[in-house]
Amino acid sequence: MTRVLRIDRTLVFPPDGRTIAAAARLIRRGGLVAFPTETVYGLGADATRGAAVARIFTAKGRPPGNPLIVHVADPDQVRGIVASLPADALKLMRCFWPGPLSLVLPRSAALPQEVSAGRPTVAVRMPAHPVALYLIRAAGVPLAAPSANRSGRPSPTTAGHVLEDLAGRIEGLLDGGPCSVGVESTVLDLSGSRPLILRPGGIGREQLQEALGVAIEERSRGEAGTSPAPGLGYRHYRPRAPLILITGSRDRRAAAMEALARGCRRGGSRVGVIRARSGPGGAREMARELFPELRRLDGRGVDLILAEGISAPGLGHTVMDRLRQAAARVIRV
Ligand code: TXA
Ligand code: MG
Repeated sequence: MTRVLRIDRTLVFPPDGRTIAAAARLIRRGGLVAFPTETVYGLGADATRGAAVARIFTAKGRPPGNPLIVHVADPDQVRGIVASLPADALKLMRCFWPGPLSLVLPRSAALPQEVSAGRPTVAVRMPAHPVALYLIRAAGVPLAAPSANRSGRPSPTTAGHVLEDLAGRIEGLLDGGPCSVGVESTVLDLSGSRPLILRPGGIGREQLQEALGVAIEERSRGEAGTSPAPGLGYRHYRPRAPLILITGSRDRRAAAMEALARGCRRGGSRVGVIRARSGPGGAREMARELFPELRRLDGRGVDLILAEGISAPGLGHTVMDRLRQAAARVIRV
């Protein structure tokens, strides 16, 4: 018999066939259930019900203009969600699904407005996590799901992080242990004349270019106004303590970190340090540990976080994207 905990009105399920069926019933009744994916925990609602989707925005404190990713358990399920499926989308789905790649496509008129926050497009993804796939199948509907954090906070990679932010604000949480990738999916816009990366993520630009055989641009941050990636305009991943990101050559970075940390400590500040990992697997490790580390340092009540940048393609580039957004200041040495 599995033990179901109730924490501040939120049911926490250790996932098995029976508890996932119970979580799926909550979803079908219009409830909110957080679930593990390979990237980060998602906060799921029935994507076919506008009122259920609207509750996600309230629970997270999410700005209403920021659209959601729809999660499917099978590539065929996408057909009911999008208006058209270009050849590039089919190719990428075959190469990278299930996995950390979300595709932005023209939306089906049948989808509630709330999912795409009034836009003509919708982002879709098939996650590579057995609990997520089982839940979507059991619910029998696609799930609209953003990351399961309060808006602006680092994304959650454990059930404990989800409870920190959302206990009592959601009906259920499936505890599937820590997420293996640790940063969110790559968001690739295929609705325009050329593919465009709106958010770097778990799949690198190089991998996408190789699959499609064309060069792919990435939307630069800070392009004001009509950005097609609405989420980019908001503050994200911010720990409570200000974070200073130090970039530049490797030896200068290390020396600058030491000097800054020493100076701040001498002045009586509690300083948390995030060091870069090098070598094969270094970027992968940093990706997995970045969000938990930001939350851990907040828990220790540090006054300042010093983070060392890395220069590596693929996941390394994604880690730098998240660090830049988490940073109050970037110092190049
Ligand atoms: O790995 C992930 O993508 C996780 C897991 C739960 O799947 N989800 C996630 O969702 O990170 P969220 O809502 O935290 O981030 C989704 C990003 C936002 O930046 C949003 O603006 C963008 O995707 N997005 C969603 N739909 C879009 C659309 N139709 N057009 C442009 N950008 C879109
Ligand atoms: Mg998010």
